[in-house]
Amino acid sequence: MRKIVILFALVGTFTWPFVASQDNRYCRLDDFCSYKCHCSSCGPKNGLCAVDATCDKGWFGHNCQYLDLKPDKVDIEPQQSKTQWLMDNDDATCNKGASISSVTMTLNGSYPLTWIRIVLNDTAMFSTVKLFYSEIEECPKTIWSRPNERTMDIRCEKSVLIKTLKIIGNLDSLCSLYINGGRNVAYGQRASQTSNFSNNIYLANSAVDGDYLTFSHTGAEERPRFSLTFNTNYLVTRFLLYNRAGLLERLQGFRLQSFDANSIVVDNHKDILTLSQSVYVVIGNASVPISSLSVNETSKIYPAPNPYVTLMEIEAYGGRV
Ligand SMILES: *[C@@H]1O[C@H](CO)[C@@H](O)[C@H](O)[C@H]1NC(C)=O
Ligand SMILES: *[C@@H]1O[C@H](CO)[C@@H](O)[C@H](O)[C@H]1NC(C)=O
Ligand SMILES: *[C@@H]1O[C@H](CO)[C@@H](O)[C@H](O)[C@H]1NC(C)=O
Ligand SMILES: *[C@@H]1O[C@H](CO)[C@@H](O)[C@H](O)[C@H]1NC(C)=O
Ligand SMILES: *[C@@H]1O[C@H](CO)[C@@H](O)[C@H](O)[C@H]1NC(C)=O
Repeated sequence: MRKIVILFALVGTFTWPFVASQDNRYCRLDDFCSYKCHCSSCGPKNGLCAVDATCDKGWFGHNCQYLDLKPDKVDIEPQQSKTQWLMDNDDATCNKGASISSVTMTLNGSYPLTWIRIVLNDTAMFSTVKLFYSEIEECPKTIWSRPNERTMDIRCEKSVLIKTLKIIGNLDSLCSLYINGGRNVAYGQRASQTSNFSNNIYLANSAVDGDYLTFSHTGAEERPRFSLTFNTNYLVTRFLLYNRAGLLERLQGFRLQSFDANSIVVDNHKDILTLSQSVYVVIGNASVPISSLSVNETSKIYPAPNPYVTLMEIEAYGGRV
């Protein structure tokens, strides 16, 4: 797992500085520096990773805030029986001895391809690396950036939904691989709803508090709506709407809309599924930055004549422009 080195004073109250050893694209000056804890040990109430903390499975990068889409099983050519050095997400453990010419990963769904992170011990071999978004189609245009000596982020400029990702090249010294699934830019942002179910509970911010037990809940009104306003603009690849356990009819028929800084509609998704889902996944535009979103048009609930909008959680995976 990734080691995170930060400095802090042992006396009195200490603050948790941003992780200096990693790229800091995450929290530029105008960004929203809010962190849900995704590592083995976090600072008090702020979600920042503590000294020597490791990322939880499925997370990587700055303060472990990026979702890693890498599946549990990867195909390495030539075949290898032991892949612990790759699956442990520890950038300090690498393949040794056996040669590797390609790694193929099959995801359990379709995801928008953004960028991958690759850690090689033999940095001269970065130049041999090629990215394929299917068995045969190579990313036509890639943008490379290097957060540190042994780490390269490769962005595919083509916007495609992928199920398979293949990396070829001289990967003999491969240490880690991550497929970026974005970070949840909705977490902690400014939420509101057109009415409250009750004055002090089920408030709108419960839908973006990172807690899958609390929920937001409007009153029963003719046209209830939940809204979220981001502090800045984000490119969002996927929205996840968590429905109320045991009350799955609640979100049925919902409309999710997102808006750019001029309030022009970017995403406009109407739920037409006949079966309610516990988690709805909506693919975002990903090329037009958004600054707010709304959820409404949920089903009317018997016996009440009017609908509620109630959300366990809403997540928006993406990043800065
Ligand atoms: C990285 O490469 C150097 C030089 O070949 C080698 O000594 C070292 O053991 C390698 N590190 C890992 C973690 O494989
Ligand atoms: C993919 O698999 C993981 C773990 O096996 C699971 O938690 C997740 O819900 C799956 N995602 C999809 C889209 O099926
Ligand atoms: C809901 O309650 C919160 C907290 O009291 C308040 O700030 C908000 O304005 C209320 N919303 C509406 C629509 O009344
Ligand atoms: C995103 O929105 C722009 C502008 O409306 C549109 O041209 C583009 O096709 C959309 N892309 C996707 C993937 O929906
Ligand atoms: C749902 O919200 C969208 C965006 O604010 C709005 O255009 C639409 O009219 C609303 N639908 C209803 C039934 O109020």
